[in-house]
Formats: sequence, C-alpha cells, structure tokens
Amino acid sequence: MGEPQPILDPLSKAALFLVATIDEGGESAVRDLLAELPGLRRSVGFRVPGADLSCVTSIGSTAWDRLFAGPKPSELHEFPGYEGPRHQAPATPGDLLFHIKAETPDACFELAMVIGDRLRGAATVVDETVGFRYFEQRDLLGFVDGTENPEGSQAVSTALIDGSDPDFAGGSYVIVQKYLHDLGAWNALSVTEQELVIGRTKLGDFELSDADKPANSHVAVNTLYDPDGTQRQILRANMPFGSVRDGEFGTYYVAYAAAPDVTERMLERMFLGSDEAAYDRILDFSTAVTGTLFFTPPAGFFDALPDPARTDTAVVEQAPALGDGSLGIGTLRRKD
Ligand code: HEM
Repeated sequence: MGEPQPILDPLSKAALFLVATIDEGGESAVRDLLAELPGLRRSVGFRVPGADLSCVTSIGSTAWDRLFAGPKPSELHEFPGYEGPRHQAPATPGDLLFHIKAETPDACFELAMVIGDRLRGAATVVDETVGFRYFEQRDLLGFVDGTENPEGSQAVSTALIDGSDPDFAGGSYVIVQKYLHDLGAWNALSVTEQELVIGRTKLGDFELSDADKPANSHVAVNTLYDPDGTQRQILRANMPFGSVRDGEFGTYYVAYAAAPDVTERMLERMFLGSDEAAYDRILDFSTAVTGTLFFTPPAGFFDALPDPARTDTAVVEQAPALGDGSLGIGTLRRKD
C-alpha cells in the first residue's frame, strides 16, 4: 500500500478548506500545481516550526478525466445529492479539494495564498472555509464531535484503499459538506431534548442507552451494519466554522472512507430515511449547503503524476450548472 496523505493524523487546531473548479484550458497549470504541492508545503511549513502544516489534496471525478489518461479510481464518481421527504443534501461543483491543516492558522493561510496564487487563471476557488477547533473538540451545537471515530489499525482499514484497487492502494475517498446550524432553534431546546437529537449526553459525551436513544437520533441513524452484522465506519475530520457578523454557525463535515458507498449509505439514511427512522433529527437544525465527492490519492501520486489526458479524447462529464441563483444542486437521489 502506498504511503497515504496525512488523513489519519489527529485533528489539528486550525484548518482551511479550499474547493476549486478547473477553468477551461486550465488543466496543464493545475497539473503543474499538483506536482509542485509537496515542495510548496515544505517551503511554507519549514518556516513555521511546530505548526505541523499539512495539505491533503483530493480530485473530483470530472477533473480526473480532464487531467489524467490511464486508470481511474474504481469508485470515483460525482456526489449524487439527496432529496428526502423533509431535507436536501445538494451536490455542488468542485474539482479540487485542498484540506489544509496546522496547529496555527497563519500556516494554513500562507499555504492557501500560495495555492490560490498558482491557481489564478487556471481554476476558480468556489468555496473557502476557515475551520477551527472549538473547546473540548465540540461542534457549535455544543456536543463533542469525533468520539467514535475508529483508531489505530481500524482507522487504516476504514479510511484507506487496500489491495482491492491496487493502482490506488493507500488512497481514500472524501465527501465534504458544509452545514449551517439554526442555533436559535437549537438553543430553544432543553439539554435533554438536544441529547435525544444527538444520541449522546452533552456534558460528559456518553452514548445514551439503547432504551433511551431515539431511532432518529444522529448516532442511531449513523450506526451502520452490513447484512452480515459487520459495522461499517468512516473517518470524520469535522471542523466548526462561523461568522458572528453573518449569523453563520456551521460544521464543515469531512469524511474519508476506503469506499464512498459507506458514507453514501449513511447520507441515504440521514436524508432519505430507513425502516427505523424517517430522517436524521439533526437535520431539523442543520442545513447542508454544499456537497462534493473527491478521490484522495496516496502521497506518492504527486511525485509521478499519470500522463495527461489527451484533450481530443478526454471524456468530460458536465458539472452541475450554476448561474440560476441556486446552490448548484445537481441530480438528487430520491427515495424510491
Ligand atoms: C451537521 C453536521 C454534523 C454534526 C454537527 C455532527 C455531529 C456529530 C456528533 C456530535 C457525534 C457524536 C460523537 C461522535 O462519535 O463523533 C456524531 C457522530 C457520528 N456522525 Fe455526525 N455530525 C454531522 C454530520 C454527519 C454526517 C453528514 C454523517 C455521515 C454521512 C455523520 C456521521 C457520523 C457517524 C458515523 C458518527 C458516529 C456514530 C457512532 O458510531 O456512534 N455525521 N456526529
């Protein structure tokens, strides 16, 4: 298995997420940037000792076809989007994801500036989110977020592709979504009511007993089993973000998985419902405003990029169109 990009590291104190779309004709400049990235990260990171700067770079399905000839990660596709009876998860455009992490925000911002500079004229940054670690690893709903993430060898098998796709072993699939919380409605609930929404206690972060945990609680909906009883997990790296001026309080949801269908099955249960619950109750207080799926290659990929796609034969899927005032909601997966 190839050395992975640093996706297994513990949560950093600061993070900056850049999502960009590649402009027409920008493919070769983007390839140059991808090849340069490890060196750029070293140049910025070495000047900020202790910041532990890293950048996990991921590539979307359409972008892959535009950038590279040769094999494609077997499960790379566009984020489907979900339209449930009550809540929607839009699919929004994104060719490249830069998940920049450090112990200090200056290091993240410096690397983001360098990347933005290299992308100018070749790609457009469509979303920039500055994430921070909130006290006691809580999200802005006030609950500790990340407790049940797999650890050690379980984290490795959860997040990293193994021999099943040998060309891309050590890679991963990542789904990101930006959620905005309605803190007014949330804070109108009592702590006990909030705990029933999440499925864990707020102060101590203990899981509610099966008898107390509602079927539509966030934890119950996202506890996923295969028919043979094996639990399926994902590796989450959520970060809070917000703006007091704009009244915006959110969670940048980030989930790495060896197979994207695990995260997608969780999203189906959250938005489309299951036999046990109509939808995830957390969605009454949190609205998804973006959603994109990318492939995260192993680290060595950037040292020897595959040959460029031949533009005359490249298959270019159409990204969801914008410009209609919508959030770029693409095709949505609906309940049958
Ligand atoms: C509004 C955005 C979200 C917030 C604020 C949030 C928050 C939380 C919190 C507080 C927990 C309990 C502590 C923990 O184990 O981490 C949790 C658990 C979990 N969440 Fe989320 N989450 C969000 C979105 C999602 C989404 C979109 C998914 C999957 C598609 C997801 C999957 C999970 C999973 C798998 C668990 C662990 C369940 C378990 O095994 O106990 N979360 N989340």
